[in-house]
Amino acid sequence: MRGFRAEILSVPHDPAAAGRDAIVHHGDGLLVEEDGLVVARGDFADLAPRFPGLPIAHFPGRLIVPGFIDAHVHYPQIDRIAAHGEQLLQWLERHIFPAEMAFADRAHADRVAAFFLDELLRNGTTSALVFATVHEGSVDALFEAACQRRMRIISGKVLMDLGPEGLRDTPATGRAESEALIARWRGRGRLGYAVTPRFALTSSDAQLEMAGALLEAHPDALLHTHLSENRAEIEAVAARFTAAADYLDVYDRFGLVGARSVFAHGVHLCARERDRLRASGAGIAHCPTSNLFLGSGLCDLAGLADIKLGLGSDIGAGTTLSLLATMGEAYRVAQLRGQSLDPFRALHLATAGGARLLGIADRVGALEPGQEADFVVLDPRATPLLARRSQGASLADLLFLLQILGDDRAIAATYVMGACAWVRGG
Ligand code: GUN
Ligand code: ZN
Repeated sequence: MRGFRAEILSVPHDPAAAGRDAIVHHGDGLLVEEDGLVVARGDFADLAPRFPGLPIAHFPGRLIVPGFIDAHVHYPQIDRIAAHGEQLLQWLERHIFPAEMAFADRAHADRVAAFFLDELLRNGTTSALVFATVHEGSVDALFEAACQRRMRIISGKVLMDLGPEGLRDTPATGRAESEALIARWRGRGRLGYAVTPRFALTSSDAQLEMAGALLEAHPDALLHTHLSENRAEIEAVAARFTAAADYLDVYDRFGLVGARSVFAHGVHLCARERDRLRASGAGIAHCPTSNLFLGSGLCDLAGLADIKLGLGSDIGAGTTLSLLATMGEAYRVAQLRGQSLDPFRALHLATAGGARLLGIADRVGALEPGQEADFVVLDPRATPLLARRSQGASLADLLFLLQILGDDRAIAATYVMGACAWVRGG
């Protein structure tokens, strides 16, 4: 058993609905961990006497928050971040599909997976919903590396039988390889499986139908795909699926819309799609840096009220793995829509909100007793400007500063299951 003493902040509920009741804050707090789980959390003065002799790591001037949850990211695209000059469909053809072809080589996949997960930890991210590639071995590589690091990672083989030459499966191989991965990895480490059709345009009707069958056959699996990101993409979907009411309805017709469904983007949704997301319990991974980088558009967060929401880096269309920086970008995108994203709500989206979206809120996201002890030690004095600007700041101002000025430099340490997984300068 071990204790961690610092200022502690967690946002288990959405402040948009719960207001200040959404927030748990201890100015001088103590987090008690045993066997990887949170045993207790509270004010140091109240809690410390209940644990005499407890070894305590003290982080004065630092802020402990739950480990960040990246609700949408592509690990094979990490080496194509900052590819210049295109919007979604041309960007995929020119930069992304060629990069993903290299994952037919398992040794390449192993190297990239290791680098990617170490970067997540360096950025304070302890859980993620991750796109691999069409290759079965790309998922094995990621899951193996995640097990070694004890991280909570959900992924799945990408289904794309209408993909480009060299990056295509079939409905039958897609099903067989997905089933094999589910059988091989079920119950191991902290892993989860997501049935992952790339998006409507890269799967045949037969493969989308198969994805629906897979989802039905595996009640513990998520559905992970892209939705309504880019105008040209939406037009192409409408041109192919003439019977569907809209983009979401395409997925709905194949049984892919439900409480386990995670859709990345949702930038250009109509009212019917929003109503259907709300009613079905499906959710959106908001990816502000990606939407800006690819010029996809400005997601209407206010329009997504009462819909499950998380925050995604969407590397390699996104421009940072830092969810602190991504929270800052979410604020800027909201500003451009005349909305104002509260810093506590931004933190909620990157932690407990993302956990709910990914179906892991019972395990992580809020540092509640009984949850897994994944947390980040933030340094509000990480840079000279942060140190100067944060002097005397209120908690809300401090958190906002970390989101606007902070990034990987503000992560002093990352803990996974109560064990230090990364420490700055260590
Ligand atoms: N839509 C289909 N594939 C992708 C992808 O790899 N990245 C993004 N941002 N959107 C997609
Ligand atoms: Zn994506």
